[in-house]
Amino acid sequence: MSYYEIQGGRSLYGTLEVHGAKNSVLPILAACLLVPGQCVLHNCPDLSDVSATLDILRLLGGRAEREGDTVVVDASALIRSSIPEHLMREMRSSVIFLGALLARLGTAELSYPGGCELGPRPIDLHLAALRALGAEILEEQGALCCRRCRKGLQGREICLSIPSVGATENAMLAACGCPGQTTIVGAAQEPEIADLQGFLRAAGAQVTGAGTSTITIQGGGALHPVEYRVMGDRIEAATYLCAAAAARGEVELTGVAPDTLTAVLACLERAGCTLRTGGESISLSSAAPLGGIEPVRTAPYPGFPTDAQAILMAALAGGKGNTLFVENIFDSRYRHVDELRRMGADIQVAGRTAMVSGVGRLHGASLRSTDLRGGAALVVAALGAEGATQVFELRHIKRGYQDLDKNLRTLGADIQEVP
Ligand code: EPZ
Repeated sequence: MSYYEIQGGRSLYGTLEVHGAKNSVLPILAACLLVPGQCVLHNCPDLSDVSATLDILRLLGGRAEREGDTVVVDASALIRSSIPEHLMREMRSSVIFLGALLARLGTAELSYPGGCELGPRPIDLHLAALRALGAEILEEQGALCCRRCRKGLQGREICLSIPSVGATENAMLAACGCPGQTTIVGAAQEPEIADLQGFLRAAGAQVTGAGTSTITIQGGGALHPVEYRVMGDRIEAATYLCAAAAARGEVELTGVAPDTLTAVLACLERAGCTLRTGGESISLSSAAPLGGIEPVRTAPYPGFPTDAQAILMAALAGGKGNTLFVENIFDSRYRHVDELRRMGADIQVAGRTAMVSGVGRLHGASLRSTDLRGGAALVVAALGAEGATQVFELRHIKRGYQDLDKNLRTLGADIQEVP
């Protein structure tokens, strides 16, 4: 079992290009099922979640090949509509295939996606949206069997009670296969939704409104082969910025649109960092210990992203001043706190809130990643800490970060993956 060995205290300097966004490429790969031909996707990060998704596409009968950061998918000849349990367990976000399989094949069988490290992960909104479009969904012994009702799928209005990212994406993909107009009211507004719309429109779908709370799809038309570039990963960018804030130094990121992580940049600026932004670049310099800031409340986009909560907390824990966090999206997204405490962090958790009292400097420790972003948070904390830190359970981190150690080394960090 390999682990990261990190010597903290080295400032970070240099420029780094951010990879394509994991949470954009996953739904776009599912959307390739709607295209009876070849799709060429550029800027596809090489992550275990992406590999798992390519395996599902192949298992369904598609062809999927990677050439560097370009992935070529051909879903002309699909041979099955069921996703086996072991692949669903490997990645719960595979539920995103539901809408695309219904639209393309009219049926879909997959096992209930299990909960994950963030607590229960219900899919009631996904199922309600698909039923509204005419899907019959049977739930038996943990499996979902979906098929078009006799009358077939038909576009109509869908109201989401929570702006669920996954439910919005599933509804968009299913609606592409529904004759007529579908309106998704209360849709998630994350930039990855707009990226999915960009892909669908490039393939000939009539989708508008992504990035707002109302998305409209004129479904039923045939889609055609497409070549598309995936957006930069705003959470990966937030991770490197928080690393530079924690370790000090001057870092420039390219390949990411600053307006996709405004809330994170505002927090880093209030904590004492100096930020400069360009069209597709963000520069951060940090020379003093981070200060405490107003409460950080996670919220649907454009609010503060829940995926950056642990990462910012790790940077502030080693600063000065106090900051209150309120995690409003997931039920248990503070599993990294115990690990940060092993580094000397002073964090008091009470339900959804966590009060971070900066201790000036953390110290190294032997740590275990608990989840994807919690694991990245431990690396951020270790870079600014005194002494050596080991981070185990790297499989969580590798789900969402390509070459994390190599990228940090190019910025001057002392981090090695020890087999
Ligand atoms: C997406 O997950 C992202 N994953 C998550 O990123 C991200 O944290 C999340 O959106 C919120 O931004 C991908 O895009 C692959 P939701 P998703 O549906 O779609 C509740 C990462 O670290 N809910 O927006 O699963 C749910 O329990 C990952 O990259 C229902 O109640 O999130 C949660 O409390 C982690 N019923 C809230 O909504 C439903 O049917 C938001 O979940 C669906 C969701």
